[in-house]
Amino acid sequence: MQVQSQYAQVKQYIANMQENRESGIGMVLKGPVGTMKTSMAVAVLVEHLKAGHSGLFVPMVSMLDNIFTMKARNKEEWLAYEERIRNTGLLVLDDLGAEYHQEWVLSKVDAIISERYNRMQPIIITTNLSADELKGKYAERVYDRLKGTSKVINFSGKSLRESA
Ligand SMILES: Nc1ncnc2c1ncn2[C@@H]1O[C@H](COP(=O)(O)OP(=O)(O)OP(=O)(O)O)[C@@H](O)[C@H]1O
Ligand SMILES: [Mg+2]
Repeated sequence: MQVQSQYAQVKQYIANMQENRESGIGMVLKGPVGTMKTSMAVAVLVEHLKAGHSGLFVPMVSMLDNIFTMKARNKEEWLAYEERIRNTGLLVLDDLGAEYHQEWVLSKVDAIISERYNRMQPIIITTNLSADELKGKYAERVYDRLKGTSKVINFSGKSLRESA
């Protein structure tokens, strides 16, 4: 079954966690809604934290929200938050592409990804966007960097969410 092979790939990533961490290798989990991308990203993050390393789960929409609210309220608060995003051992950016499409927000994401890339700090990204959509939305070098340092896993199939 399709899901099984993605699961196997994620398991493989976890099995090589130390090497991945040291080499700055992350993951891009992409595919349609409800196909376990976020669940898999969280599973990896939990393993990483259990091994005693730092990590952060950041839903892209809340990062956007924080950019606006924290900056308006207290710039120091935003800078501290951004600092954590830049420096944490493993960063999960959940639902990349779901955030507001505004030039300076995109360039902020661009800067965070580029900086972590330069420092060989891994990022795990989940997204509903295709490779072409990602390339169109972010600076081309962003996707290029992610591709160069990440294991890209394609999810497919129907949503696993139960109907309400
Ligand atoms: N191992 C599993 N077995 C069965 N169902 C699961 C499993 N893991 C997650 N689910 C369920 O599948 C649904 C989708 O999971 P998840 O939120 O991880 O998908 P997603 O790919 O991130 O979706 P989206 O693109 O909408 O963010 C959830 O309702 C979740 O409870
Ligand atoms: Mg998700």
